[in-house]
Amino acid sequence: MTLMKPGDSLTRVVILGSTGSIGRNGLDVIEHDAGKRLRAWGLSGHRSRETLLAQCRAHRPRFVAVTDPDSARAIREDLRGLDLDILEGRDGIIRMVQDPATDRVLSAIVGVAGLEGTWAALEAGKTVALANKESLVVAGPLVMELAGRRGGRLLPVDSEHSAIFQALRSGEHAEVKRVILTSSGGPFRGRSRRELQSVTPDEALRHPTWKMGPKITIDSATLMNKALEVIEARWLFGLEPDQVEVVIHPESVVHSMVEFVDGSVIAQLSPPDMRLPIQYALTYPDRVPCPGPRVDLTKALALHFEPPDRDTFPCLDLGFEVMSRGGTAGAALNAANEAAVARFLGSEIGFLDIPRACRAAIDHHTFDPSPSLDQLWKVDAAARLEVQRWQP
Ligand SMILES: NC(=O)c1ccc[n+]([C@@H]2O[C@H](COP(=O)([O-])OP(=O)(O)OC[C@H]3O[C@@H](n4cnc5c(N)ncnc54)[C@H](OP(=O)(O)O)[C@@H]3O)[C@@H](O)[C@H]2O)c1
Repeated sequence: MTLMKPGDSLTRVVILGSTGSIGRNGLDVIEHDAGKRLRAWGLSGHRSRETLLAQCRAHRPRFVAVTDPDSARAIREDLRGLDLDILEGRDGIIRMVQDPATDRVLSAIVGVAGLEGTWAALEAGKTVALANKESLVVAGPLVMELAGRRGGRLLPVDSEHSAIFQALRSGEHAEVKRVILTSSGGPFRGRSRRELQSVTPDEALRHPTWKMGPKITIDSATLMNKALEVIEARWLFGLEPDQVEVVIHPESVVHSMVEFVDGSVIAQLSPPDMRLPIQYALTYPDRVPCPGPRVDLTKALALHFEPPDRDTFPCLDLGFEVMSRGGTAGAALNAANEAAVARFLGSEIGFLDIPRACRAAIDHHTFDPSPSLDQLWKVDAAARLEVQRWQP
């Protein structure tokens, strides 16, 4: 373990989406960094102006970028007197992540809106702590190719992928039999399809183990989150489709596992708290004390594992299908899901309509096995429109 002393080299961190759940946890990690090795170099927010303002006052970053035009106008006035560069829109994000002094970028904007920041950071050869799984779901092969070509690096923030990343240090890539992603099962684990017909957004937003933003919380209830993670894992770790599996683990203590060819299974355990995987992605390859809770094995601790109910939660099969197909399928699934979740949260469609609308968008899109980035944006727009018009 390396503990940095004050005065040792600093890691300047740009947090894209600092006002969200991951962003706020990232700032908490920086605030509690005992070695003072991490500094908030740039922050970005969209509409949560008050939160962004408070973060700027507390962390005094070099840059702040505001992506929503109305908020950007208003915040200029609010931030008068603070010594920082106020940037706007996507150009602001690009300026901040490509700044020569930026060392790491925590990519934590929600949805495909996060892809541009991930892309710009990798283009500049930066190390990206990736929370925005949508970047890899939509454009996995292109993003990985870009990282390799420009000397950038992706470090996982998703707790499952962080667990796999840590477990993979136990062996060589050729020695990996499969990775096993765990899922809490969400708030509706054990319910039947009939019971799920009438669940409300409020019920779906009550996650049993994790506190997260609204979109990923709904994704966790449908198991679409696990579907997106399956796709993310394939591209991030360079796996074959038959090397990725999912198991339900309601306690959310084992964050995922890697099985090696000899039958050894290496797991990573910690309480469900995102600060640990965020911190590991910011300090990697070093491990330093973390502000989050620890697993207490002196107290009774039962860990359960069961197979997922794929009939009740068909999003999971959509994820496995899209992972195997690659190409434009990820962009179609992701956009369809974002649009369907928005309609569900607006009470326009039911919970079980989310996978139905996604199925329709995937089936109707024109599949291309090796698309360009431009093509992926077009597929995204078409799938979104299709789901906005889709009728149950
Ligand atoms: N939360 C978790 O525990 C968790 C765990 C693993 C992975 N992730 C992933 O991390 C990402 C963020 O999740 P979250 O739960 O932190 O989401 P969240 O709480 O909803 O925060 C989303 C962030 O994105 C910003 N944002 C929203 N729309 C934007 C747009 N069009 N352009 C630019 N910025 C925009 C928001 O800004 P304003 O608030 O200022 O509007 C906020 O800062 C997602 O990809 C999610 O899948 C999250």
